[in-house]
Amino acid sequence: MKDLNEYNLTERVKESFRTEDGSRFKFLLENLIDHIHDYTREVGMTHDEWMTMLEFLYDCGKISTPERQEFILLSDVLGLSALVDMINTKGGATEGSNLGPFYLDDAPEKELGADLGDGRDGATVLVYGTVTDSLHKPLAGAIVDTWQADGTGTYPIQEQDQGQDKYDLRGKFTTNEKGEYYYTTVLPKPYTVPYDGPVGRILRAGDRHAWRAAHLHYIIRAEGMRSITTEIFFEGGEYIDNDAVFGVRKSLISKVEPVRKTDQFDFNLEKAPDAKFKFDFVLAPAG
Ligand code: BEZ
Ligand code: FE
Repeated sequence: MKDLNEYNLTERVKESFRTEDGSRFKFLLENLIDHIHDYTREVGMTHDEWMTMLEFLYDCGKISTPERQEFILLSDVLGLSALVDMINTKGGATEGSNLGPFYLDDAPEKELGADLGDGRDGATVLVYGTVTDSLHKPLAGAIVDTWQADGTGTYPIQEQDQGQDKYDLRGKFTTNEKGEYYYTTVLPKPYTVPYDGPVGRILRAGDRHAWRAAHLHYIIRAEGMRSITTEIFFEGGEYIDNDAVFGVRKSLISKVEPVRKTDQFDFNLEKAPDAKFKFDFVLAPAG
């Protein structure tokens, strides 16, 4: 019998799994074991530290519910979610960014030009732009699925805002023949990610805040194209340089500008806007 030691253990653990040669599962598992073992050796992990880490993960599990997923939040504040978004942005497409916990897949379909503000206080902003492929060909019939916080940084979900309809501030638009989308809404404000749980303890331990830069969320889908999940941000907004979940990219920032009398929009709008905010989405082919 070959004795186990801190140097040969890693290979023995990998060999203990019977996994198909060349499979993605084998690749992911063996790399995970390599990296966890390397990390443990490199930091010289003590028993106390090992137990603290496991208890931390246990606490993440305990506080998680279908509405609150502490493990995703942990991934977000450690930059893991951002890294996965970055390495999966393909073919000149708009960069991906956080899905976050407030998406509902059954948001109401809305006509182009509808107002999503649902009577919330704040300036009315026209949000508009195009959905194209990376060669600028307009994608007619693309779905622009959006959701957002309101002008106080509150999402229309039960835990945050008991009086509101959860379908407020959301809508699914279909682009017209020019690939255009347009609607009006209220400008959202920054808000904090939940920090009353184990992830909050990590933020406090590292002297970090929990604020997200204000943003609008999107999932954009079109036939034959790779869907994107992303967020767009407001130039000059608070926390734009230190978003708690590393969601901001330069390419996802656009400017809110006043609407001028000279602006000519060929849009049929439910509500007259005070300001305008343009963002063009680009999708890459599927596959
Ligand atoms: C959000 O954008 O809504 C969000 C993202 C990550 C964590 C919490 C909230
Ligand atoms: Fe959000």
